[in-house]
Amino acid sequence: MSGTEPKAGRLRIGVLGCADIAERRMLPSMLRQPLVEVTAVASRRIERARQFTERFGGSAVAGYERLLERDDVDAVYVPLPPELHVEWTLRALAAGKHVLCEKPFATRLADAEKAVSFARESGLLLMENFMFLHHSQHAEVRRLVAEGLIGEVQLFGSEFGIPLRPDAGPQGLPRRASTLPEVAAYPIRAARLFLGDGLRVAGAQVRPDSPYGPQPSGSALLVAPSGVAAQLAYGVEHGYRSGYGLWGSEGRLRLERAFSTPDELTPLLRVERGGTVTEIPLEADRHFTNIAGVFARAVLCGEDFTPHTEAILAHARLVDEVERAAASF
Ligand SMILES: NC(=O)c1ccc[n+]([C@@H]2O[C@H](COP(=O)([O-])OP(=O)(O)OC[C@H]3O[C@@H](n4cnc5c(N)ncnc54)[C@H](OP(=O)(O)O)[C@@H]3O)[C@@H](O)[C@H]2O)c1
Repeated sequence: MSGTEPKAGRLRIGVLGCADIAERRMLPSMLRQPLVEVTAVASRRIERARQFTERFGGSAVAGYERLLERDDVDAVYVPLPPELHVEWTLRALAAGKHVLCEKPFATRLADAEKAVSFARESGLLLMENFMFLHHSQHAEVRRLVAEGLIGEVQLFGSEFGIPLRPDAGPQGLPRRASTLPEVAAYPIRAARLFLGDGLRVAGAQVRPDSPYGPQPSGSALLVAPSGVAAQLAYGVEHGYRSGYGLWGSEGRLRLERAFSTPDELTPLLRVERGGTVTEIPLEADRHFTNIAGVFARAVLCGEDFTPHTEAILAHARLVDEVERAAASF
């Protein structure tokens, strides 16, 4: 097939599908990441792929399968709808490509397990694109909490909600099968970031339906082995909300726009302690560019891929447990 030689120290990435998230955030961010180069973009419609390659570089390809045949692609970025993630990940791995897949990697735990096993057997990197984890603001919040900013943590809370899409109508907002794996993904992942592994699900509910479609919202209560709880809420017919808070023995803190933080935003950490409210400015950061770098570095430097697949499984197990708790409510 066609072939550009890899530029020194760069991972050559092919993109499967001209998704909104790829166009708005991920591909502009890859352009800024010196460790990656977009060498091909595939779409079901070649004109759409050409629109992307005019902006982001690489060759336009008609159809995802043909992109996987190319020898100028070392790895693929998969921003397809969630229900197609596992299918195209398996195909990409079978073609010998590393995979950076959008969240939620899988909508069923068994699918995540299957893909992780295959990636491990193939010696290829499989990573879920939880870009928010790679914004420095969260490490800074964790550092401040560990230093005792709010005393001992007693409760974590997080919400992610987005308004109805403008094209939503009574017949169907949800172009997604379920809001739970897709939209609840952020608060659930954030709970693990702050409370660690070993979270158990104490309860969960979903709103069964709305005029716009099934399961537009839900909430969950998780509990860490220490007994500290995480109260989580999510939805797709809500005023926009994307944040978390921690309530400690000596105060509390809150970070807004925590999951979809714009690159140029200086995050403000609101801290309330002893009746005084302060706002601590944190560094702006480029989490989409950072995660592309983490992915590329892991491959280019031959790092251990296991933590990335462990993270996929841990997240999928927790989502699965939340789904089962909500179904039995
Ligand atoms: N990490 C983040 O910050 C973030 C943010 C938003 C969304 N996401 C995730 O990214 C993924 C994509 O979300 P999105 O909102 O960007 O999706 P989207 O705009 O709907 O794009 C999905 C793309 O998949 C391709 N596709 C193939 N088969 C399709 C089908 N049957 N129906 C619809 N599209 C199909 C289409 O590309 P072609 O027509 O070009 O083939 C389409 O453009 C989701 O998993 C979502 O949760 C992540």
